Amino acid sequence: MAKFWVCAAGAGFFLACLILHSRFCGSPVLRNFAFQVSWRTEEILYRLDVDWPEYSEYFTGATFGVAVDSLNGLVYVAQRGDNIPKVLVFTEDGCFLRAWNYTVDTPHGIFAASTLHEQSVWITDVGSDFMILWLHGENGTEPAKFNIPHSVTLDSAGRVWVADRGNKRIQVFDKDTGEWLGAWTNCFTEEGPSSVRFTLDGKYLIVAQLNLSRLLFVAAPPAGSIGDCSVISTIQLADQVLPHLLDVSGKTGAIFVAEIGAKQVQKYVPLNSYFLSFGS
Ligand SMILES: *[C@@H]1O[C@H](CO)[C@@H](O)[C@H](O)[C@H]1NC(C)=O
Ligand SMILES: *[C@@H]1O[C@H](CO)[C@@H](O)[C@H](O)[C@H]1NC(C)=O
Ligand SMILES: *[C@@H]1O[C@H](CO)[C@@H](O)[C@H](O)[C@H]1NC(C)=O
Repeated sequence: MAKFWVCAAGAGFFLACLILHSRFCGSPVLRNFAFQVSWRTEEILYRLDVDWPEYSEYFTGATFGVAVDSLNGLVYVAQRGDNIPKVLVFTEDGCFLRAWNYTVDTPHGIFAASTLHEQSVWITDVGSDFMILWLHGENGTEPAKFNIPHSVTLDSAGRVWVADRGNKRIQVFDKDTGEWLGAWTNCFTEEGPSSVRFTLDGKYLIVAQLNLSRLLFVAAPPAGSIGDCSVISTIQLADQVLPHLLDVSGKTGAIFVAEIGAKQVQKYVPLNSYFLSFGS
Protein backbone atom coordinates (compact mmCIF):
# COMPACT_ATOMS: atom_id res chain seq x y z
CA MET A 1 0.00 0.00 0.00
CA ALA A 2 1.32 3.39 -0.89
CA LYS A 3 0.15 6.54 0.78
CA PHE A 4 1.29 10.00 -0.19
CA TRP A 5 0.45 13.07 1.79
CA VAL A 6 0.72 16.60 0.54
CA CYS A 7 -0.10 19.05 3.27
CA ALA A 8 -0.03 22.78 3.64
CA ALA A 9 -0.61 24.60 6.89
CA GLY A 10 -2.81 27.58 6.24
CA ALA A 11 -3.72 30.56 8.34
CA GLY A 12 -4.80 29.96 11.90
CA PHE A 13 -5.27 26.33 12.77
CA PHE A 14 -6.38 25.16 9.39
CA LEU A 15 -4.81 22.32 7.51
CA ALA A 16 -5.64 21.38 3.96
CA CYS A 17 -4.56 17.98 2.81
CA LEU A 18 -4.48 16.26 -0.53
CA ILE A 19 -4.16 12.54 -0.20
CA LEU A 20 -3.18 10.25 -3.02
CA HIS A 21 -4.23 6.84 -1.91
CA SER A 22 -3.72 3.50 -3.45
CA ARG A 23 -4.99 0.34 -1.85
CA PHE A 24 -4.26 -3.13 -3.10
CA CYS A 25 -7.96 -3.96 -3.09
CA GLY A 26 -9.05 -1.16 -5.38
CA SER A 27 -7.93 1.32 -7.95
CA PRO A 28 -6.05 4.42 -6.82
CA VAL A 29 -8.33 7.17 -5.61
CA LEU A 30 -7.57 10.82 -5.34
CA ARG A 31 -9.29 12.41 -2.39
CA ASN A 32 -9.26 15.96 -1.25
CA PHE A 33 -10.42 17.01 2.15
CA ALA A 34 -9.95 19.72 4.66
CA PHE A 35 -10.52 19.78 8.36
CA GLN A 36 -10.47 22.33 11.07
CA VAL A 37 -8.16 21.85 14.03
CA SER A 38 -9.65 24.16 16.58
CA TRP A 39 -7.84 25.48 19.61
CA ARG A 40 -9.16 23.76 22.68
CA THR A 41 -7.85 22.93 26.10
CA GLU A 42 -8.25 19.24 25.26
CA GLU A 43 -5.69 17.50 23.13
CA ILE A 44 -6.66 16.06 19.76
CA LEU A 45 -5.14 12.61 19.52
CA TYR A 46 -6.90 10.85 16.63
CA ARG A 47 -8.51 11.61 13.32
CA LEU A 48 -11.22 9.73 11.47
CA ASP A 49 -10.00 7.73 8.48
CA VAL A 50 -12.75 8.58 6.02
CA ASP A 51 -11.42 5.98 3.58
CA TRP A 52 -12.10 2.99 5.87
CA PRO A 53 -13.52 0.64 4.75
CA GLU A 54 -13.28 0.97 1.01
CA TYR A 55 -16.93 -0.04 0.57
CA SER A 56 -19.37 0.49 3.44
CA GLU A 57 -22.18 -1.36 1.60
CA TYR A 58 -21.14 -4.54 3.38
CA PHE A 59 -22.57 -3.24 6.67
CA THR A 60 -26.12 -4.59 6.62
CA GLY A 61 -27.04 -4.99 10.30
CA ALA A 62 -26.57 -3.48 13.73
CA THR A 63 -22.79 -3.51 14.00
CA PHE A 64 -22.38 -4.17 17.70
CA GLY A 65 -18.81 -5.42 17.92
CA VAL A 66 -15.37 -5.24 16.37
CA ALA A 67 -12.17 -7.20 17.01
CA VAL A 68 -8.73 -6.58 15.55
CA ASP A 69 -6.37 -9.46 14.80
CA SER A 70 -3.20 -7.38 14.64
CA LEU A 71 -0.99 -10.33 13.85
CA ASN A 72 -2.80 -10.95 10.59
CA GLY A 73 -3.92 -7.37 9.94
CA LEU A 74 -7.61 -8.33 10.03
CA VAL A 75 -10.69 -6.57 11.40
CA TYR A 76 -13.71 -8.69 12.33
CA VAL A 77 -17.05 -6.89 12.46
CA ALA A 78 -19.96 -8.58 14.22
CA GLN A 79 -23.50 -7.56 13.30
CA ARG A 80 -26.99 -8.46 14.45
CA GLY A 81 -30.05 -8.81 12.30
CA ASP A 82 -32.09 -11.32 10.32
CA ASN A 83 -30.82 -12.90 7.10
CA ILE A 84 -27.50 -11.13 7.13
CA PRO A 85 -23.94 -12.37 7.55
CA LYS A 86 -23.10 -12.28 11.27
CA VAL A 87 -19.39 -11.58 10.83
CA LEU A 88 -17.63 -9.49 8.18
CA VAL A 89 -13.89 -9.70 7.69
CA PHE A 90 -11.91 -6.71 6.43
CA THR A 91 -8.21 -5.97 6.26
CA GLU A 92 -6.91 -3.19 8.49
CA ASP A 93 -6.49 -1.22 5.26
CA GLY A 94 -10.19 -1.45 4.50
CA CYS A 95 -10.48 -4.22 1.92
CA PHE A 96 -13.47 -6.51 2.34
CA LEU A 97 -12.38 -10.14 2.44
CA ARG A 98 -15.37 -12.33 3.33
CA ALA A 99 -18.57 -12.78 5.31
CA TRP A 100 -19.55 -15.60 7.67
CA ASN A 101 -23.09 -16.82 7.84
CA TYR A 102 -22.86 -19.09 10.88
CA THR A 103 -25.77 -18.69 13.24
CA VAL A 104 -25.12 -17.05 16.58
CA ASP A 105 -28.05 -16.66 18.99
CA THR A 106 -27.51 -13.55 21.10
CA PRO A 107 -23.98 -12.42 20.29
CA HIS A 108 -22.73 -9.56 22.38
CA GLY A 109 -18.95 -9.46 22.19
CA ILE A 110 -16.22 -10.49 19.83
CA PHE A 111 -12.49 -10.71 20.19
CA ALA A 112 -9.61 -12.04 18.15
CA ALA A 113 -6.91 -14.18 19.75
CA SER A 114 -4.45 -15.21 17.08
CA THR A 115 -1.06 -16.76 17.58
CA LEU A 116 1.61 -17.40 14.96
CA HIS A 117 0.18 -20.89 14.50
CA GLU A 118 -3.53 -20.39 14.78
CA GLN A 119 -6.14 -17.79 13.96
CA SER A 120 -9.12 -17.68 16.28
CA VAL A 121 -12.06 -15.42 16.91
CA TRP A 122 -14.28 -15.68 19.97
CA ILE A 123 -17.87 -14.57 20.02
CA THR A 124 -19.52 -14.23 23.42
CA ASP A 125 -23.16 -14.55 24.31
CA VAL A 126 -25.03 -12.12 26.52
CA GLY A 127 -24.69 -13.14 30.15
CA SER A 128 -21.77 -15.53 29.65
CA ASP A 129 -18.76 -14.41 31.82
CA PHE A 130 -15.68 -15.37 29.77
CA MET A 131 -13.68 -12.88 31.78
CA ILE A 132 -11.42 -13.99 34.56
CA LEU A 133 -11.66 -16.85 37.05
CA TRP A 134 -11.80 -14.72 40.16
CA LEU A 135 -14.40 -12.35 38.77
CA HIS A 136 -17.55 -14.05 39.90
CA GLY A 137 -19.70 -11.50 38.11
CA GLU A 138 -21.93 -11.11 41.13
CA ASN A 139 -24.62 -8.51 40.63
CA GLY A 140 -24.61 -5.48 42.93
CA THR A 141 -23.37 -1.96 43.53
CA GLU A 142 -20.68 -2.64 46.17
CA PRO A 143 -16.98 -2.69 45.25
CA ALA A 144 -16.05 -5.80 43.22
CA LYS A 145 -19.67 -6.42 42.27
CA PHE A 146 -21.08 -5.62 38.87
CA ASN A 147 -24.18 -4.48 37.07
CA ILE A 148 -23.81 -5.27 33.37
CA PRO A 149 -20.02 -5.66 33.14
CA HIS A 150 -19.75 -4.82 29.47
CA SER A 151 -16.11 -4.83 28.44
CA VAL A 152 -12.80 -5.80 29.96
CA THR A 153 -9.15 -5.11 29.17
CA LEU A 154 -5.69 -5.54 30.66
CA ASP A 155 -2.82 -3.11 31.05
CA SER A 156 0.94 -3.66 31.14
CA ALA A 157 0.98 -3.08 34.92
CA GLY A 158 -1.00 -6.28 35.46
CA ARG A 159 -4.35 -4.63 36.11
CA VAL A 160 -7.75 -5.68 34.80
CA TRP A 161 -10.11 -2.86 33.81
CA VAL A 162 -13.81 -3.60 33.76
CA ALA A 163 -16.49 -1.35 32.26
CA ASP A 164 -19.20 -1.79 34.90
CA ARG A 165 -21.80 -0.04 32.80
CA GLY A 166 -24.90 -0.40 34.94
CA ASN A 167 -23.04 0.96 37.98
CA LYS A 168 -21.64 3.89 35.93
CA ARG A 169 -18.03 3.11 36.81
CA ILE A 170 -14.83 1.40 35.77
CA GLN A 171 -13.48 -1.06 38.33
CA VAL A 172 -9.86 -2.14 38.44
CA PHE A 173 -8.34 -5.31 39.85
CA ASP A 174 -4.97 -6.95 40.16
CA LYS A 175 -4.74 -9.56 37.40
CA ASP A 176 -3.10 -12.19 39.59
CA THR A 177 -4.58 -11.73 43.05
CA GLY A 178 -7.94 -10.23 42.17
CA GLU A 179 -7.34 -7.43 44.68
CA TRP A 180 -9.69 -4.48 44.11
CA LEU A 181 -7.54 -1.46 43.14
CA GLY A 182 -10.24 1.16 42.86
CA ALA A 183 -13.11 2.48 40.78
CA TRP A 184 -13.61 5.51 38.59
CA THR A 185 -17.00 7.15 38.86
CA ASN A 186 -16.30 10.87 38.42
CA CYS A 187 -16.09 10.67 34.56
CA PHE A 188 -19.28 8.63 34.26
CA THR A 189 -21.92 10.56 36.16
CA GLU A 190 -23.97 11.03 32.97
CA GLU A 191 -23.60 7.52 31.59
CA GLY A 192 -21.64 4.37 32.30
CA PRO A 193 -18.84 3.06 30.06
CA SER A 194 -19.71 0.55 27.32
CA SER A 195 -16.21 -0.27 26.17
CA VAL A 196 -12.66 0.00 27.52
CA ARG A 197 -9.38 -0.41 25.62
CA PHE A 198 -5.91 1.08 25.97
CA THR A 199 -4.18 3.08 23.28
CA LEU A 200 -1.19 1.26 21.78
CA ASP A 201 1.27 3.36 23.79
CA GLY A 202 -0.64 2.57 26.99
CA LYS A 203 -0.96 6.26 27.86
CA TYR A 204 -4.74 6.50 27.63
CA LEU A 205 -7.79 4.41 28.29
CA ILE A 206 -10.34 4.79 25.49
CA VAL A 207 -13.90 4.63 26.78
CA ALA A 208 -17.07 4.50 24.69
CA GLN A 209 -20.28 5.99 26.07
CA LEU A 210 -23.14 4.57 24.07
CA ASN A 211 -26.09 6.94 24.39
CA LEU A 212 -23.90 10.04 24.64
CA SER A 213 -22.26 8.96 21.35
CA ARG A 214 -18.92 9.86 22.81
CA LEU A 215 -15.38 8.50 23.07
CA LEU A 216 -13.29 9.59 26.05
CA PHE A 217 -9.50 9.39 26.33
CA VAL A 218 -8.60 9.09 29.97
CA ALA A 219 -5.06 9.35 31.34
CA ALA A 220 -3.81 5.92 32.45
CA PRO A 221 -2.50 6.11 36.02
CA PRO A 222 0.84 4.56 37.02
CA ALA A 223 0.90 1.06 38.52
CA GLY A 224 -1.01 0.49 41.74
CA SER A 225 -4.06 2.33 43.01
CA ILE A 226 -5.83 4.31 40.28
CA GLY A 227 -6.88 7.63 41.87
CA ASP A 228 -9.44 9.76 40.04
CA CYS A 229 -10.37 9.70 36.39
CA SER A 230 -9.13 12.57 34.22
CA VAL A 231 -10.36 13.10 30.65
CA ILE A 232 -7.61 14.29 28.29
CA SER A 233 -9.51 14.25 25.00
CA THR A 234 -13.02 13.63 23.69
CA ILE A 235 -14.40 12.59 20.32
CA GLN A 236 -18.04 13.64 20.13
CA LEU A 237 -19.86 11.65 17.46
CA ALA A 238 -23.18 12.63 15.92
CA ASP A 239 -26.37 11.99 17.85
CA GLN A 240 -27.58 8.36 17.66
CA VAL A 241 -24.28 7.00 16.34
CA LEU A 242 -24.13 4.88 19.52
CA PRO A 243 -20.54 3.59 19.81
CA HIS A 244 -20.90 0.18 21.45
CA LEU A 245 -17.59 -1.70 21.46
CA LEU A 246 -14.16 -0.80 20.15
CA ASP A 247 -10.78 -2.39 19.61
CA VAL A 248 -7.25 -1.17 18.97
CA SER A 249 -4.72 -2.46 16.48
CA GLY A 250 -1.62 -3.72 18.27
CA LYS A 251 0.40 -2.87 15.18
CA THR A 252 -0.72 0.57 14.02
CA GLY A 253 -2.59 1.86 17.07
CA ALA A 254 -5.68 2.52 14.94
CA ILE A 255 -8.98 2.45 16.85
CA PHE A 256 -11.96 0.64 15.32
CA VAL A 257 -15.33 1.65 16.72
CA ALA A 258 -18.49 -0.42 16.24
CA GLU A 259 -21.34 2.08 15.96
CA ILE A 260 -24.53 0.17 16.58
CA GLY A 261 -26.77 3.14 15.77
CA ALA A 262 -24.98 4.34 12.64
CA LYS A 263 -24.64 0.69 11.54
CA GLN A 264 -21.02 0.91 10.61
CA VAL A 265 -17.51 0.54 11.95
CA GLN A 266 -15.22 3.54 11.74
CA LYS A 267 -11.45 3.74 11.98
CA TYR A 268 -9.51 6.44 13.85
CA VAL A 269 -5.77 6.81 13.35
CA PRO A 270 -3.32 8.40 15.77
CA LEU A 271 -2.55 11.96 14.76
CA ASN A 272 1.17 11.54 15.46
CA SER A 273 1.43 8.74 12.87
CA TYR A 274 -0.32 11.09 10.49
CA PHE A 275 2.42 13.65 10.99
CA LEU A 276 5.03 10.92 10.64
CA SER A 277 3.65 9.88 7.27
CA PHE A 278 3.62 13.56 6.29
CA GLY A 279 7.34 13.75 6.95
CA SER A 280 8.35 10.54 5.21
C1 LIG B 1 -24.49 -15.40 3.32
O1 LIG B 1 -25.78 -14.85 3.41
C2 LIG B 1 -26.02 -13.80 2.50
C3 LIG B 1 -27.36 -13.17 2.83
O2 LIG B 1 -28.34 -14.16 3.05
C4 LIG B 1 -25.93 -14.35 1.08
O3 LIG B 1 -26.13 -13.30 0.17
C5 LIG B 1 -24.54 -14.94 0.88
O4 LIG B 1 -24.47 -15.55 -0.40
C6 LIG B 1 -24.23 -15.98 1.94
N1 LIG B 1 -22.83 -16.37 1.81
C7 LIG B 1 -22.42 -17.62 1.93
C8 LIG B 1 -20.95 -17.84 1.80
O5 LIG B 1 -23.18 -18.55 2.13
C1 LIG C 1 -28.42 -5.85 39.48
O1 LIG C 1 -28.35 -4.81 40.46
C2 LIG C 1 -28.90 -3.59 40.02
C3 LIG C 1 -28.59 -2.55 41.08
O2 LIG C 1 -28.76 -3.05 42.37
C4 LIG C 1 -30.36 -3.78 39.74
O3 LIG C 1 -30.93 -2.56 39.29
C5 LIG C 1 -30.53 -4.84 38.66
O4 LIG C 1 -31.89 -5.11 38.43
C6 LIG C 1 -29.85 -6.14 39.07
N1 LIG C 1 -29.87 -7.06 37.95
C7 LIG C 1 -30.10 -8.35 38.07
C8 LIG C 1 -30.02 -9.14 36.82
O5 LIG C 1 -30.38 -8.86 39.13
C1 LIG D 1 -29.42 4.03 26.35
O1 LIG D 1 -30.73 4.47 26.11
C2 LIG D 1 -31.68 3.43 26.03
C3 LIG D 1 -33.01 4.02 25.58
O2 LIG D 1 -33.31 5.14 26.34
C4 LIG D 1 -31.76 2.73 27.39
O3 LIG D 1 -32.68 1.67 27.34
C5 LIG D 1 -30.39 2.19 27.73
O4 LIG D 1 -30.39 1.62 29.03
C6 LIG D 1 -29.33 3.27 27.68
N1 LIG D 1 -28.02 2.66 27.82
C7 LIG D 1 -27.07 3.17 28.61
C8 LIG D 1 -25.77 2.44 28.63
O5 LIG D 1 -27.22 4.18 29.28
